[in-house]
Amino acid sequence: MTEEKKTYYITTPIYYPSSNLHIGHTYCTVMADAMARFKRLSGYDVHFLTGTDEHGQKIETLAEAKGVSPQAYVDEIVEGIKKLWATMEISYDDFIRTTEPRHIKRVQAIFMKMYENGDIYKGEYEGLYCTPCESFWTESQLVNGCCPDCGRPVQAAKEEAYFFRLSKYADKLLELFEKNPDFLQPESRRNEMVSFIKQGLDDLCISRSTFDWGIPVPIDKKHVIYVWLDALTNYITALGYPDEPELYNKYWPADVHLVGKEIVRFHSIIWPAMLMSAGLPLPKQVLGHGWLLLGGEKVSKSKAAKAGDVVDPVVLIDRYGIDALKYFLLREYTFGQDGVFTNEVMLKRMNYDLANDLGNLVSRTVSMIEKYCGGTVPKADTSDEIDEDLKKIAVGAAAKVEEQMDKFAFNMALEEIWILVRRANKYIDEKAPWVLAKDESRKAELDTVMHNLAEAIRIISILIYPFMHSTSKEIRKQLGLWYADVEWKDAFVFEMMGGEQVKKGPQLFPRLDIEKELAELAAVHQQMEAAKEAEKAASAPAEPAGAEQGKPEITYEDFDKIDFRVGKIVKAEKHPQADKLLVFQVKIGTETRQIISGVAQSYTPEEMLGRQVIVVTNLKPRKLRGLESRGMLLFADNGERVEIVTTEAPDGNVVS
Ligand code: ME8
Ligand code: MG
Repeated sequence: MTEEKKTYYITTPIYYPSSNLHIGHTYCTVMADAMARFKRLSGYDVHFLTGTDEHGQKIETLAEAKGVSPQAYVDEIVEGIKKLWATMEISYDDFIRTTEPRHIKRVQAIFMKMYENGDIYKGEYEGLYCTPCESFWTESQLVNGCCPDCGRPVQAAKEEAYFFRLSKYADKLLELFEKNPDFLQPESRRNEMVSFIKQGLDDLCISRSTFDWGIPVPIDKKHVIYVWLDALTNYITALGYPDEPELYNKYWPADVHLVGKEIVRFHSIIWPAMLMSAGLPLPKQVLGHGWLLLGGEKVSKSKAAKAGDVVDPVVLIDRYGIDALKYFLLREYTFGQDGVFTNEVMLKRMNYDLANDLGNLVSRTVSMIEKYCGGTVPKADTSDEIDEDLKKIAVGAAAKVEEQMDKFAFNMALEEIWILVRRANKYIDEKAPWVLAKDESRKAELDTVMHNLAEAIRIISILIYPFMHSTSKEIRKQLGLWYADVEWKDAFVFEMMGGEQVKKGPQLFPRLDIEKELAELAAVHQQMEAAKEAEKAASAPAEPAGAEQGKPEITYEDFDKIDFRVGKIVKAEKHPQADKLLVFQVKIGTETRQIISGVAQSYTPEEMLGRQVIVVTNLKPRKLRGLESRGMLLFADNGERVEIVTTEAPDGNVVS
């Protein structure tokens, strides 16, 4: 008899291959992977989809700036993304690229369905566009004149376009949210979306005609399909809908679309409305996770470098290993909430939980079984209260993990496992096997301790499998267990071991010298920044030679707008966050102000102190690595370094 397995379909966003992925994308994919592995282990037939969202204005512009075709541009980045997921052994079942023929033809078919249902019409779009988010906005939706999602400036857009009758679905969407409280979680997102709909839904512009990089609108080849419409359909085009519907029939509707909170609106309003229009079932659930923050800001492709922490997953994996990084991401953050990312928090987690707690437990136990039991796991013949307490916690952990995983509370699931890890460590201290070993008459007790520890660790190896499968295998190898043979049901029983040959292996997680690591990561960060700068410089158009041709002509009035004054440097120091910058306090007459210059490679702070310099005082203030700079000092380039332009006139005087 073959029983039909229950299916489970989970997706991540398909990421923009605009540049390499960072820790934020890794976070989302690691959560999806852990859930997929957990469900597989729990007996589900899982389909796990990820991929890349390759069309749109942003990609076209980036490719143009680099002087390559959009396809060549994305091909290179997608290769890196796939390599990253391969390195991390992300267990996706399919990777969809929106430039694949299978996707293109199916997007067009879905567009035609919506069109034939009378939901698409031609009109003119006039409004605002955020290119980084690829989203349309009206004036009244802006926050401080910028994109309400990402806070960046928007551009005016006016073009002939096709529209989707999103407004028509407002009531049905409200009903969806009302009848299915679980459709969108967490709760706060749900309330936001309900009020967004209640404010009134405009029809959605779904084609663009001012650039080319997209899928042609089937009925009008002057237009390309709006990148979000194109992208959202990936969840069913990858399943073969509509022309090869085998997987679609099996896995749709999806159990979970896992997405970052900034794109919940697309997934819980626009995507369901599209499906309603096409007459298709809706996903069962959209889950919006929080952001990883650097300082106060979202880690993002353009801003990733700011705070001095390394956020490149490739670098972190290289130094600390896949499982340590995955553990940190899953254990540190609370699902649905934002969390601050720093290298220090990461290293501490790795040290305390992995090197100290888990690593020690395994290595101590294996060593003791080798030393006291000739390397063979003994059977247990005795039992006391302490033994029973350990057993109870060990066999009770799996149900608790399940309960937390049902809520996507990865951090709590791991905490439940670590309660057992810590209990087992405490058990060693309580039982003091080194004392038992000295007394022949207590051999049976000693055997029990060794047996129970082996059982507890065996259970831990099963429980951690969804989160850290390589570590699970390594532990099982050291315990003499057949390591491929992980079955969730075995985590509920205690008495399974006896006779296995343990074998000490490499340390699971080496102890890290946190100060040293932080210093090295800071150096890596700086190298990466310098490499980025160099790349930018190399791709920037060459500066014309000769001062006369340097910049376009300006009028006397233009020049007269600049307020040059003499200033005296009364304090000079290094910028705490940036090697190239010096921070000056400059006295200009009665006022002293802070000015930052990128001259640390030419001058030490001491050399600058006391100099009478020329200051542009009415330049708009700006922040440089967290510190405000109000004005600019004049330097002359002498070919190798810059030289400060000085004067003997008293500070505060006008320069003209
Ligand atoms: O939005 N913290 O792609 P994208 C946590 N192509 N997660 C983060 C994060 C951070 N700082 N930064 C990014 C797109 N993410 C569209 C999606 S889906 C049909 C189309 C994660 O490259 C998070 O999951 O901007 C977020 O939603 C996703 O990356 C956005 O990736
Ligand atoms: Mg984004």
